[in-house]
Amino acid sequence: MDSIIIEGGVPLSGKVKISGAKNSCLALMASAILTEAPLNLNNVPKLSDIATMSTLLGSLGLEVQNKDSRSLCLDARNISNRKAHYDIVRKMRASFLVLGPLLAREGYAKVSLPGGCAIGARAVDLHLEALRKLGAKLKLENGYVIASAPSGLIGAEIDFPIKSVGATENAIMAATLAKGRTIIRNAAREPEIGDLIDCLKKMGAEIKGRGSSTIEIEGKHRLNGSTHEVISDRIEFGTYLLAAVITKGKISLTGGQEILNTEFLKKIGEMGVRYKSDSEGLAIDATNTDLQPIKVTTEPYPGFPTDLQAQMMATLTLAKGESEINENIFENRFMHVPELSRMGAKIKLEGTCAMVEGVDHLVGAPVMATDLRASVALVIAGLAAKGETRINRVYHLDRGYENIETKLAQCGAQIKRVQS
Ligand code: EPZ
Repeated sequence: MDSIIIEGGVPLSGKVKISGAKNSCLALMASAILTEAPLNLNNVPKLSDIATMSTLLGSLGLEVQNKDSRSLCLDARNISNRKAHYDIVRKMRASFLVLGPLLAREGYAKVSLPGGCAIGARAVDLHLEALRKLGAKLKLENGYVIASAPSGLIGAEIDFPIKSVGATENAIMAATLAKGRTIIRNAAREPEIGDLIDCLKKMGAEIKGRGSSTIEIEGKHRLNGSTHEVISDRIEFGTYLLAAVITKGKISLTGGQEILNTEFLKKIGEMGVRYKSDSEGLAIDATNTDLQPIKVTTEPYPGFPTDLQAQMMATLTLAKGESEINENIFENRFMHVPELSRMGAKIKLEGTCAMVEGVDHLVGAPVMATDLRASVALVIAGLAAKGETRINRVYHLDRGYENIETKLAQCGAQIKRVQS
């Protein structure tokens, strides 16, 4: 397993090109199941999660071709298998996004329950309830969901009790081939859902309410192929932005427009960081900035994203005062805390609340990654820490960050990947 070694203390400076959004691309890939015509995706990030989804779709009978390093052609002309195997689904929860499309296209789907992961139980009851409302018959057997709708799905009204990105995506994709109209209320509004809707509409789906929490879908008999460019990754964008902030650097980021006018950027301003948006993206200047402590609560979009909570916590360990972070989305998303504490951070946990008392500096240490965003929080801490930080189990990082050490090294970071 590879490790990443960082010699901290260098203020980042330079330009970072943000890659395509992992969490959009995964849903877009699943949507290819809905049509017998090829779906071409551009600006695809080079990540292990994308490879996992390609393997899963291949196991269902889709032809997945890399037209070049950032483009995929997905051809679902022949669905030869309607079972998504546990061995693949257990590696990546987003595999569950094939359930809705497979059921809508084939009238049958057998998908392994994703199981929990480091950040929480990750239930799927909202996905199943939505499909039930669309007329699916569901049963759970030996850890699999078996869904059937032999005469096809029927449009329905779906009221989500809480906002769920994945359940919203599964419901939208299934409804595009249902007979009649579907209305989804309290839908999640993450930009990745907007990107999925944009692509589905290009494929011939009739969808209203993009960007709002009420989505209306007029089902179609079939969808066409299309070509679609994946939006840029706002979580990668926020991650590099915080890497510049903690090192008191000055960088410009391309892409990530979805993060403008959101709670995240408001918080960056409250910390005393100067930024300016331009036609390409955003320029950050944190040189000589005494970071101010802030209060953060993670919420569904456009609230502060839970996927940037760990990275923000790492940055706030060096603020001038005490910050408060409330994790409202997942029940166990503080796995980065013990590792940050080993680097000298002062963090007290009270349930889903973390009190972060700023310290003068962090000290490099060997630390261990536990999930995708906790891993990158350790990279951020290591970039500012005095001395060497060695982050083990970096396969977590490769799931969601394309060439992270190259992008950081290009901004002056002393960082390298070693085989361990
Ligand atoms: C998506 O996960 C993202 N993953 C996550 O990013 C992200 O953290 C999350 O949305 C929240 O923004 C992808 O898009 C592939 P949810 P998802 O359903 O869809 C509960 C990353 O690091 N819930 O919006 O699984 C759930 O337990 C990953 O890139 C139910 O109770 O998240 C959570 O508490 C991590 N029942 C809350 O809803 C359900 O049926 C929000 O989860 C579904 C969800």
